[in-house]
Amino acid sequence: MESPFKPEILKGKVALLTGGASGIGFEISTQFGKHGASIAIMGRRKAIVDAAVSSLRSLGIPAAGFAGDVRNQEDAKRVVESTIEHFGRLDILVNAAAGNFLVSPEDLSPNGFRTVMDIDSVGTFTMCREALKYLKKGGAGRKESDKGGLILNISATLHYTASWYQIHVSAAKAAVDAITRNLALEWGTDYDIRVNGIAPGPINDTPGMRKLGPEEINSMRSSDVMPLFKLGEKWDIAVAALYLASDAGKYVNGTTLVVDGGLWLSRPRH
Ligand code: HXC
Repeated sequence: MESPFKPEILKGKVALLTGGASGIGFEISTQFGKHGASIAIMGRRKAIVDAAVSSLRSLGIPAAGFAGDVRNQEDAKRVVESTIEHFGRLDILVNAAAGNFLVSPEDLSPNGFRTVMDIDSVGTFTMCREALKYLKKGGAGRKESDKGGLILNISATLHYTASWYQIHVSAAKAAVDAITRNLALEWGTDYDIRVNGIAPGPINDTPGMRKLGPEEINSMRSSDVMPLFKLGEKWDIAVAALYLASDAGKYVNGTTLVVDGGLWLSRPRH
């Protein structure tokens, strides 16, 4: 779909995306690149990261890939520093890496719970912390006239109410939203960094939908529970990210933008 934004809205910016090689993360990588940004991708699977980088480069987008796991602090530090070595600066950090599987609470081991908390919540915090010295106003690689950078955390809506078989993901995304608000307050005040989130609804053609799909799709068969009665597209999330990352979003801080067609607040008609 054609972009509603001018192609240069992120000109000169460098974005680092965890989970940026697949699904929603890759679509954000692509759209940010098409709108002028240079893209660094972090992912656990080197082959998938390399393929994503080739694909971006074939579109003329400056791109680099770094294998790493957000659960490992050394990886986080190395990837942030490699991004600086490669592109000289960092303006936007997108935390899109996530883990998910469906399991009932009684069948979920504490380690299974911890694994998703580690990827989604602790991983997000770790990446933010490692990126701080480059994102903050006056930070390494930034010009005197540069504002502070931006953090964008990919969240979900499932913890706004309660979700079957996703106690671990609900807890992890609730923590992500808390991280978004607290860093927006503290780093917005001290370092001129904006910190926002996006909470996607069910998005077609993503790893999340492939894993959770049957349940989600079945719950959407009835137009009674979904105002727009359709799946979202990765593009919908990427253009929301573009809005938040561009100057259009300069007064938006500490918010998590729900992009779900109104699904989470739906109730059956009676
Ligand atoms: C029960 C499970 C399980 C399952 C793993 N575990 N899969 N428990 N059911 N299906 C438990 C294991 O038994 C183990 O606990 C612990 O979790 C760690 O498992 P590992 O296999 O060692 O972990 P790892 O190889 O690191 O894999 C992490 C992962 C994996 C989360 C399990 O699926 C992953 O990395 N996925 C990333 C890709 C992904 O899921 N993307 C989709 C995101 S969608 P024990 O006790 O046995 O040691 C998304 C959307 C959210 O986030 C919003 C939706 C609306």
